[in-house]
Order: sequence, then structure tokens, then C-alpha cells
Amino acid sequence: MTKSSELYERALNKSPGGVSSPVRAYKPNPLFIESAKGSKIRDADGNEYTDYCLAYGPMIAGHSCDFVLDAVRNQLGKGTLYGAPSETELELIELISERIPSAEMVRLAVSGAEATMHAIRVARGFTGRDGIVKMIGSYHGAHDHVMTNKGEGYKSIPGSPGIPADAVKNTYNAEYNDIESLVEIIEAESPACVIMEPVMGNIGVIPPEKGYLEEVRRVTEESDTVLIFDEVITGFRLSEGGAQKFYGVTPDMTTCAKIMGGGFSGSAFMGKKEIMENVAPAGKIYAAGTYAGNPVSAAAGKAQIEYMTGKYAELNKRSSELIGSLRDSMEDSGTAGCVNGVGSMMSVFFGVDSVKNGTQASGTNRETFNGLFRHMLSNGTYLAPSALEAWFVSTEHSEEDISATAEAFDSFVKREKK
Ligand SMILES: Cc1ncc(COP(=O)(O)O)c(C=O)c1O
Repeated sequence: MTKSSELYERALNKSPGGVSSPVRAYKPNPLFIESAKGSKIRDADGNEYTDYCLAYGPMIAGHSCDFVLDAVRNQLGKGTLYGAPSETELELIELISERIPSAEMVRLAVSGAEATMHAIRVARGFTGRDGIVKMIGSYHGAHDHVMTNKGEGYKSIPGSPGIPADAVKNTYNAEYNDIESLVEIIEAESPACVIMEPVMGNIGVIPPEKGYLEEVRRVTEESDTVLIFDEVITGFRLSEGGAQKFYGVTPDMTTCAKIMGGGFSGSAFMGKKEIMENVAPAGKIYAAGTYAGNPVSAAAGKAQIEYMTGKYAELNKRSSELIGSLRDSMEDSGTAGCVNGVGSMMSVFFGVDSVKNGTQASGTNRETFNGLFRHMLSNGTYLAPSALEAWFVSTEHSEEDISATAEAFDSFVKREKK
């Protein structure tokens, strides 16, 4: 019996499913992690893996980045939580505003879910309308108004027991990369906002087709619909200014989390001044949190964002080498599937030639991915344990890491083909 399996048995007794978030559970047992440094994580049994899960995205500078740790240590000596404003928090706000094109004003929060919850409320309060549009297959956190599945037409049904039907009756579903599906909803429902991941990252990675984000921007602008880019994953990952800088499309509001917390819990919602100045106490739209803007997360986030300055071209180049190798292996082995990727995020879909939206992604072959996940693990590579999660690369992933991963992948697709 391994230490991880022992710990899992213990965890099952006291926590539902033995994990603190559902995606972390997999069979026969999740690895319990003991430590992490650079591109590597080490499990409770002392096995080391090259990590492409990176805590689902935050660790873009690798684990235990010295630059971030120094900033955190410095802050720890000065206190951990004040419940009052601090210069560290202000510096993070200013840095975000400088980097993210849409961020004229910024409000800090704690998690990605909280940031999207607040942003939606602000869009509703600002427009005086209730409807919200999300993309099929997107994820914006586990709160009621966005934890939905597609129902009839573009309507929603609750995405979990416990969510009242009433809570989702104003949530509408458009298909990503399909501008007509969005136009139909905007014309029929005059929603308050469209909330979308500019690059889908929670149903595997799906980049926007050429011109799609520009079209979304045009139709939302023409209809006075608030466009919210949920950049919880892509913010500070695709470029210094997130996906909006990468693609040159500026939304009205943005949510960020993950990387901007530097490995701690930190998030933000931001946007045009005319919208954000309606947030309390400047305006009437309420948003609050005891841990919002806490100085430890702010110090860590600021350090990680600063550390990444000027490092994106190299990171994206290294990642594109991995994407290229994965594609070559798929093609050479004649495996049915495709590799989607942009910047340092990517995913592998089996069984289909291309994936351009959430509906197509949910129809891909997950069994083969589960086999890949186990194969990669036994070859020292840690992926997120789901076909529909992204793979992430950090600045700490070396040429050797990338080529070992490409080789392990190649051996899997060749073995599957036999
Ligand atoms: C795009 C997006 N939005 C929101 C969230 C929710 O963030 P959190 O898990 O920090 O609440 C996630 C989490 O993965 C996400 O990927």
C-alpha cells in the first residue's frame, strides 16, 4: 500500500470524496503531494513528476519561485491580515491596472468564483437588466447563476442539485466561436452581460477563431451589453496583459485570479471607470470580503506578475514546441484526435479532427485520455486528471522536461495504435 492510498482512505472517512475540490479525485487514488519546486512535484511516496497541472494554472513561474517566496516572507514579517487598506494591496491594484487593458479600476477579491460573482452583479446593477449569457462548456466558478447546464434552446437548467431553477432562469447559453448563437440571445433577451473565457480553458483548451472575439466585441458594444472576459486562467498567462492584450480585444470588465495570487488566494474584478465606480462604497452595488486584498496574497501576486515581465515570448515558444511535438506524434501514429493550444496552455482531444466549441469538446473520447493520464503518470508526468482540463507550462519547464514529456506521449499514441 502506498502512502498516498493510505492518506486517501483516511481522507475518505472525513471529507466527501476525500478531496477538497471534485476534479482532484481519480482512480485508484489521487496522489497526495508532499512538496513542489520548479517544474516538479513530489508525492507522499517520494516519486517526482514534471507538473503540467500547475495547480490548475496559477504556478506560471514554477512552484516555490524564490522571487515570490522572498516577497511573501517579507510580508509575513509585517503581518498577515489587516482588514484595512495597505500599500502592498494598492501596488497590486496599480500593477493590474497598468497591465490589463480594460482595468481602469480594480477591486480585489479572494477566489475566481467570487470575482465572477461580483462582476456579474456589477454588470446587472449597472445596466438594470437581469439576463446573462455564458458559453456552453465554460466554467466561471461554482456559484448558482453560472453553475448551469444547457436546457431547452438557449435556456439553462441548474448544474447541481441545490441550485433553484429560479436562480438560473436568466442565464442563457451561446456556443463559443458561433457569433450567430450570441446575436440570437442578445436580440431576444437584451441581457445585462456576456461572460466568457476569451480562450475556453475548462472544457479543454479552445482558442477563438480568427475574428470571433472582435465580432463578440462589436455585437455587445452595439447592444450596450457589458462584455466580461473571465481571464481567471488567461490573465497574466497568455501575455503580460492577458488574452485581451494577446488578441487586441478590450472588454468592458475582466475577472482575474490564479496567476495574480502568486500561489495564494487572490482575485480581482475590474473594468471601465464608468462601470466600476458604481461598486460600494463609491456606488450602490455591493461587493465585500474579509480576506479581499489581503497583503500576503497581494505581495505574492505582485511578485509573480513582476517576475513574469518579459518572459512570455520564451515561455510561449517553449510551449509551442511541446504543442508541435504532440501534434506530430498524433499524426505520425495515425491517432484520431487533435491538439489545441495557444501560448502556454494546451489540451489533447481524442476521437475528433477538430474542437471549436464546448459541445464538440464534450463529445470527445475521454476513455483514451484516461489511459494517457495513467501512462504519463507512470512516465513521471503529472497532467490534470481530466480530458477537459488544460495542460499548463511554466517558465521552469526545461527543454529536457519538454522532450521527456513529448517522448512519453509519443510512446502512448504508438502503443494505442498497435
Ligand atoms: C475561467 C474560470 N473562472 C472562474 C474560476 C473559478 O475560480 P476559483 O476556483 O478560484 O473560484 C475558474 C476556476 O478554475 C476558471 O477557470
